[in-house]
Amino acid sequence: MSSHVHLAIFASGNGSNAEAIIRYFDGHTRIRVSDIYCNNPEAYVIERARQHHLPCTVFGKMDLAPGGKVHQSLVQRPVRYIALAGFLWLIPGFLAEAYTNRILNIHPALLPKFGGKGMYGQKVHEAVIAAGETRSGITIHTIDEVYDRGRPVFQADCPVFGYDTPETLARRIHELEHRHYPPVIEAFILQHEQTEETP
Ligand code: GAR
Repeated sequence: MSSHVHLAIFASGNGSNAEAIIRYFDGHTRIRVSDIYCNNPEAYVIERARQHHLPCTVFGKMDLAPGGKVHQSLVQRPVRYIALAGFLWLIPGFLAEAYTNRILNIHPALLPKFGGKGMYGQKVHEAVIAAGETRSGITIHTIDEVYDRGRPVFQADCPVFGYDTPETLARRIHELEHRHYPPVIEAFILQHEQTEETP
């Protein structure tokens, strides 16, 4: 039997964070990216999964119900941790509860500012620039049943320049995300596993 802990990635779009995570854990001794879950049949992350020979479950709203396609698949694999990487739907309460402290999300701003429903991707960067912020960054947090409300695990920041557009700021934020999200996931899982093993 594999001694690896299985990590699934949920994504809705391009999947550059998913790619960074997959590459980081390639050959890892304890953690394996076992599955990709995607709610958008047009998303490029599906192609990324194919290139890395990873099973990818594409699903619709109904498939997120208790006992539905996603739930069944998570149980069967079995998936122990979930990293949300540009996943734009709310995780239903029953899953958030089943995976308490085992689902991480990355948000492209310094929460609690610029979070909540409708705040994703480019919209976040537009809002940060419109507010005249001089710094932005990333927040990695555990999730609960409310958008962007979980416990912060990690933050990193970067400058916002007067000449920034949402695109230039997005590029800077993506660099931060790709650099930090994989090792933060690693440290989080290893620490969590150790706590669970300790009697
Ligand atoms: C990332 O910047 C991520 O932080 C953001 O979507 C982008 C996905 O990029 N997530 C949110 O805004 C969630 N509220 P990617 O598909 O290239 O990883």
